[in-house]
Amino acid sequence: MKIKHLFLAVVAIAFIAAASFNASVNAEEAKDGKTIFTEQKCDMCHSINSLGIASKKKSGAIDLSNASVEGNAEFFAKYLKKETDLKGKKHPAQFKGSDEELNIISEWLTTLKTE
Ligand code: HEC
Repeated sequence: MKIKHLFLAVVAIAFIAAASFNASVNAEEAKDGKTIFTEQKCDMCHSINSLGIASKKKSGAIDLSNASVEGNAEFFAKYLKKETDLKGKKHPAQFKGSDEELNIISEWLTTLKTE
């Protein structure tokens, strides 16, 4: 009987550990565009005034408040990978994050809109 209890306790602990591991993996996936924007140092050159995100650049930062007008998520993903250009120019910085992060930030850019 005691051994059975011990076994159940071990199973329960393993279950809890697995569940919390899953939760942390999900937290990783749930990163939002804004987080990736700062993690990938987009704020070295850009601000997003409409969201109150300041640029680290002292002057001449390019504001992305209305970035959605430039294209859809597919376009942004390519543009940030320097696979396509905008107004005849490639983006100066190559995206360094994962594909997952690229997708999230590209979707997120399509939501940046000033009325
Ligand atoms: C080294 C500086 C630099 C970094 C870092 C940088 N950008 Fe840019 N980005 C630019 C410049 C310069 C342009 C403007 C190109 C032009 O219009 O000729 C631009 C243009 C853009 C545009 C198009 C804006 C428009 O309306 O014309 C988007 C969207 C954009 N960047 C997103 C990002 C994202 C997202 C990141 C981070 C992953 C990032 N940029 C990192 C310099 C940078």
